[in-house]
Amino acid sequence: MIKKILLGSALVSVSMAASLMQEAKNAGLVAIPESDSALLKLIDDPRNPITKEKTELGKMLFFEPRLSKSGLISCNTCHNLATGGDDGLAAAVGHKWRQNPHHLGSPTVYNAVFFEKQFWDGRAADLEAQAQGPILAAPEMAATKEHVVKTVTSMPEYVKRFKKAYGKDAKIDYKRIADTIGNFERTLVTPAPFDDYLNGNEDALSKAQKRGLKTFIDKGCATCHNGIALGGSMNMVGISAKYKYADVGDFKGDANGMVKVPTLRNITQTAPYFHNGMMQTLKSAIIEMGRIQLGAKISDKEAAEIETFLSSLDGRKPVVTYPVLPAETKATPKQNIK
Ligand code: HEC
Ligand code: HEC
Repeated sequence: MIKKILLGSALVSVSMAASLMQEAKNAGLVAIPESDSALLKLIDDPRNPITKEKTELGKMLFFEPRLSKSGLISCNTCHNLATGGDDGLAAAVGHKWRQNPHHLGSPTVYNAVFFEKQFWDGRAADLEAQAQGPILAAPEMAATKEHVVKTVTSMPEYVKRFKKAYGKDAKIDYKRIADTIGNFERTLVTPAPFDDYLNGNEDALSKAQKRGLKTFIDKGCATCHNGIALGGSMNMVGISAKYKYADVGDFKGDANGMVKVPTLRNITQTAPYFHNGMMQTLKSAIIEMGRIQLGAKISDKEAAEIETFLSSLDGRKPVVTYPVLPAETKATPKQNIK
């Protein structure tokens, strides 16, 4: 008799668990695929196909401070791959120690390949287009296209590597340099226990993480934070109430007031939060989201549950070996910190 009851309750808990997995999928949450070939299909772009030669070169350029005017700032300065793919600052700091003039924080580059658009206002269509921006932006790397092309072509190892990646007649121009960095960024994908769960491993999430997932779905968070990135599309901010730090910086979204929904992957590693970095803790960000986006009061307990779920999005980072960069030559432009 006891055995039967136990069996019965085990069955009940199994079917409940299975339905939570289904509920998550129905809510639009999508796993990073387990198989390498399925993943490659998702992250690749036929206009700039991923190859080992390109990603290796793109990695060097991602870490290359001499692309910047000062010779001090690389993509990795603000999108530090060792610290969650961002810089931990409320507003980014670039050339001449200047803060981002709109008080915008650096979003993570991990999993950015899954975003529908790039930048807080979605103004770049993909990673390749995006990469052209920061190198020239005065408060970021403050370079010119000529500086960048001259720098790269001044070092024979780069020239050799471009030929290997694109063919021996390939021209090294600004667009191709940005394309190569974008190619590397496409590989910055971080599968997490949440993916293992959605891919069918019931035990990949703890009980508490499952409870948090349920709260996340029930509260309506997944209406915007969905898809593979749990974000990456555009939406309004301040739907039911005004964001309490809306006036820090002058950022108001795109022409229609739409703002990029940030990914929630590796979110425990990318404080502070929101476009202007004014929310210090994940818990406060969750509660503020409930208030301004859903008109819902999220209790401390519910916020803690959601935070526990979000920890299951801490992903396994790809191994990125710090590249040794070629030595400068007489033709390499001088560093200029002015
Ligand atoms: C000085 C700091 C800084 C540097 C250097 C920098 N970025 Fe950024 N990055 C930012 C900021 C700030 C934003 C958001 C700006 C905006 O939305 O207008 C951003 C946005 C992005 C995004 C969009 C992500 C998203 O969620 O929409 C990507 C991708 C990115 N940067 C990659 C790069 C690459 C590649 C380089 C090097 C070529 C680079 N960044 C250099 C600060 C920096
Ligand atoms: C209507 C769409 C929408 C809903 C619903 C929504 N969010 Fe957001 N979320 C956004 C947008 C857009 C931002 C960016 C806000 C900004 O930077 O000004 C954001 C930002 C965040 C951030 C900060 C991320 C970062 O990197 O700075 C977290 C955390 C977050 N949301 C969690 C949640 C949780 C948890 C819920 C449910 C309680 C939720 N969101 C509901 C659209 C939404």
